[in-house]
Amino acid sequence: MTQKNLTQYTRILGIETSCDETAAAVVEDGRHILSNVIASQTELHAKYGGVFPEVASRKHVEVIHAVISQALHEAHLSIEDLDCIAVTRGPGLVGSLLVGVNAAKGIALGRQKPLLGINHIEGHLYSLWLSDDEELIEFPLLALVVSGGHTELYLMRDHLEYEHLGGTLDDAAGEAFDKVGRLLGLPFPGGPAIDKASESGDGTFFRFPRAVLNDGYNFSFSGLKTAVMRTIAGYDQDRLPVSDLAASFQAAVVDVLVTKTALAAAEYEVSAVHVSGGVSSNRHLRKEMAQRLPVTVRFPSQKLCTDNAAMIAAAAHWHFTAGRRDFLDMDVLPSLQL
Ligand code: KG4
Ligand code: ZN
Repeated sequence: MTQKNLTQYTRILGIETSCDETAAAVVEDGRHILSNVIASQTELHAKYGGVFPEVASRKHVEVIHAVISQALHEAHLSIEDLDCIAVTRGPGLVGSLLVGVNAAKGIALGRQKPLLGINHIEGHLYSLWLSDDEELIEFPLLALVVSGGHTELYLMRDHLEYEHLGGTLDDAAGEAFDKVGRLLGLPFPGGPAIDKASESGDGTFFRFPRAVLNDGYNFSFSGLKTAVMRTIAGYDQDRLPVSDLAASFQAAVVDVLVTKTALAAAEYEVSAVHVSGGVSSNRHLRKEMAQRLPVTVRFPSQKLCTDNAAMIAAAAHWHFTAGRRDFLDMDVLPSLQL
């Protein structure tokens, strides 16, 4: 029910370089996006079939300055106008994180601005607050983050308060999409490609296993991936029913995510469910969540599902207004937990 410090006005520069997107954004009051610049490296990594960490950090070094300058330019602001410099501190690829953190420290030191290190997962959670309509978000709520690196379920009783209910025991949902995409010969990243291929497929054609574990709210997708692999092995490569395989795999992932989220929503009597992270742009997931959950389900806009810096600035607003500040010796934390 609480909405803390809504009156404190902030303008925050967010910087995000945890993986293969170099991003900078300026956000006002943790809600209104003044600019949101994303330089994607997807094409660069496509030939490797996945993110090549060394290549990613070098590309961040090349473009970070231009990306930050453009974010300020589009917001019609200079660094002097900002209240704080916020940057992703982890989790992520160490070489990539270092580029963003060092850029943020340079600005904070050179211009005497407060610095805040933000958890990338927390950024995804706060992408739900980046909305111009002033809808009142009430607690407690359930937050599912489904991305390339994470499948995590949290109970939020208030701002900045997270109870971890469960997470993946092996592959993250997006990772499973990417691996199965590769097995099906689809372009990288596999998630959007499977979403598209599924349009013309039958999701009931193959009945792939759903690992609805009995140990609370944990997830497992490696068995599903192996089942898809075995099914593929039974076909001649040039006769693969790609769209039926894609749709049936997607149906299994979505079924598990929705079933577990529905169970948690009922147990904790939440007022709403928030779904974020790259996989939250999946159309079948959006449809099933909306249809099967008895409470309001919110998703970020498509552009805010995948990695961006606006979500980092949005999360920073709540830390900043709560009085938190970080020091210039702040280190990156590649395995940071929330
Ligand atoms: O949040 P994100 O940009 O990066 C991480 O923090 O990991 O998520 C990227 C992941 C990739 O695994 C990608 O395949 C997946 O999100 N993804 C999707 C879709 N769009 C992106 N998965 C399923 N359906 C989609 N439409
Ligand atoms: Zn992410």
